[in-house]
Amino acid sequence: MSSPATPLQLEIKRRRTFAIISHPDAGKTTLTEKLLWFGGAIQVAGEVRGRKASRHATSDWMELEKQRGISVTSSVMQFPYREHMVNLLDTPGHDDFSEDTYRTLTAVDSAVMVIDAVNGVETQTIKLLNVCRMRDTPIITFINKLDRESREPIELLDEIETTLGMECAPMTWPIGMGKGFRGVYNLYTDTISFFDPRAEKGTSEVIQGLDNPRLDEVLGHVAGELRIDVELVRGASHTFDAERYLSGKQTPVYFGSAINNFGVQSLLDAVVDLSPAPLARNTATRPVPPDENKFSGFVFKIQANMDPKHRDRIAFLRVCSGRFERGMKIKQVSTNKQIAVNNAITFMAQDRTTMDEAYSGDIIGIPNHGTIKVGDTFSEGENLKYTGIPSFAPEFFRRARIKNPMKMKQLQIGLKQLAEEGAAQLFRPLLSNDLILGAVGMLQFEVVSHRLEHEYSVDMVFEPYDCYTARWLRGKDADLKAIADKYGFNVALDGADEYVYLAPNRVNLQMAQERYPDIEFLETRELN
Ligand code: G4P
Repeated sequence: MSSPATPLQLEIKRRRTFAIISHPDAGKTTLTEKLLWFGGAIQVAGEVRGRKASRHATSDWMELEKQRGISVTSSVMQFPYREHMVNLLDTPGHDDFSEDTYRTLTAVDSAVMVIDAVNGVETQTIKLLNVCRMRDTPIITFINKLDRESREPIELLDEIETTLGMECAPMTWPIGMGKGFRGVYNLYTDTISFFDPRAEKGTSEVIQGLDNPRLDEVLGHVAGELRIDVELVRGASHTFDAERYLSGKQTPVYFGSAINNFGVQSLLDAVVDLSPAPLARNTATRPVPPDENKFSGFVFKIQANMDPKHRDRIAFLRVCSGRFERGMKIKQVSTNKQIAVNNAITFMAQDRTTMDEAYSGDIIGIPNHGTIKVGDTFSEGENLKYTGIPSFAPEFFRRARIKNPMKMKQLQIGLKQLAEEGAAQLFRPLLSNDLILGAVGMLQFEVVSHRLEHEYSVDMVFEPYDCYTARWLRGKDADLKAIADKYGFNVALDGADEYVYLAPNRVNLQMAQERYPDIEFLETRELN
C-alpha cells in the first residue's frame, strides 16, 4: 500500500500553472479576464481589458512603463478555483512581445491555446507553440469567437492538425456559428449548453442527452442536423486520450465565445481536471521531483523598474521543488551567495501581496538590485542548475552607435548587463567593431536605449542592420574556425562568448548550413 500523501504533496497536487498562447487579437485578454471572473478572483468583468486598453492606447514604451505596477501584477495571477490553486502566467503579446514571452512558457506546466475561429492558426501562435513543443507542454485549445461568422469547425481542426502537428480531440462541438450560434454539445458529458448572450454567464440552459426532446423544442430542425454532425464528428475525429494530451501529442478542443463568457467555465474546469500538476524538472545533474523537501527553483524573467531613482528589479522565480517561506535563506547557485528573502512577493490576482509561503508550481518575485540573472537557479544549498531556459534566436537587429565615443566602456558594460537580464541580445562580429543588438520584439530596442541613457548615462542611436536571423554554432573547433575564417563579418560572439552566425538572408543561411554539414545551427542557446 502506498503511504498517505504528505502536506507538501497535497499542496503540489492541487496546483495548476499555465499560460495562454495566442496571436494578437484572438481574445487572450478577454479570456484571461473571464477566467479570473469565473475563478472568483475579480468581481467586475472589465478590469483586465481596461488595463489593456490604456496600455494599447500608445506604443510609447515610457507610457507602458508608467503602468509598470500593473504589468508586474498582471505578470502572474494566482487564484483558488474549486479545490485547486491556479497560477496563470501572462505572455506579453502586442507591443511588449519579447523573449520574456517565450521564456515564460518554460516556467509553466501546461498552456491554453486560443484560436480565433475566423482567422484560424496565425503566425504568433505557431511561434509560441514551437516553444511549448521544446518541453512537450500539454496544450488545451479554445476556439474563440463562435458568435461571429467563422470558418467551419472541422476545417479549423484540420488546420490545427496539419499546421501544428497535433491531433485534435474535440471535447465540445459548436451548434451553428455567427448569428446562428446556439451553443455547444459536450461529447463526454452528453450535455448541451445553450448560448444566450443576454444570460449572465452566456448560458441560458443546460440539458442532458442528445435525444432529449427539449433539444428539438429549442433548436427545431437544427437539432436533427446536430445529431448527424455529432455522429460524424465522433467517427472522424480523435477520442480524448489523457496520455497523448499529457505528452503534447494531442490537444483537447473547446469552442466558445470569451466575450460572451460562453465556454469559459468548461475551459477552466478542463485546466483543473485535465492539465498536469507540477512535474519533475531537469537539472544538469539530475531530475528534481516537485515534492522533494528541499526548496529549489529558477528565474525565467527579470522586470526592471524604469524609474532611474529606483534601480530595483524583480526576478520572477518558478518554484520547482519544496516549499518557500518568507525569510528563508536560499543560495544563488551561480554566485554561491546565500540570500535571505524577506520581501518576496506573490501575485494573488486581486493584489500584489507580500507572501508567506509558496510551493512547487508557484511563482515568487524577488526584489534585487541587478544581481540576479535570467536562468539563475536557487536552492537550499545543492549545486543544481535547471536546464531548458534558453535564449531564443532574435528576429530584429540593430547596430548600436554611440554619440560620445568616450562612453564606449559604459556602453559595453550596459549592453552586457541588459543582455544578462534578457532585455536584448548582444553580438560582436569577429571582423568588425560593431555592436549588434538582437531582439524578438521591436519594442526592446526602445527599452534598451532608454535604460542605457538613464542607468548608464550613455546616449546612443540604433541604425538598421541587415540580418535575417541568428543561429548559435556548435561543432568541432576546427570547423568553427573554418566558418569564422570564411564568414568573419557574419560570425559573431554573443554575450557569453559563444559563436553565432548572423545570416543576412534565408538563402545565405541555407548555403552556410550546406557548406558546413558538421556544424549545428541552433535556434536556441541554453543559458549558462
Ligand atoms: P488579445 O488579448 O488576444 O489581443 O485579444 P483581446 O482579448 O483584446 O480581443 C481582441 C478583440 O476581439 C477585442 O475587440 C475583443 O472584444 C474581441 N473579442 C474577444 N473575444 C471575442 C468573442 O468571443 N467574440 C467576438 N465577437 N469578439 C471577441 P476590439 O474591438 O479590439 O476591442 P474592444 O472594442 O472590444 O475593446
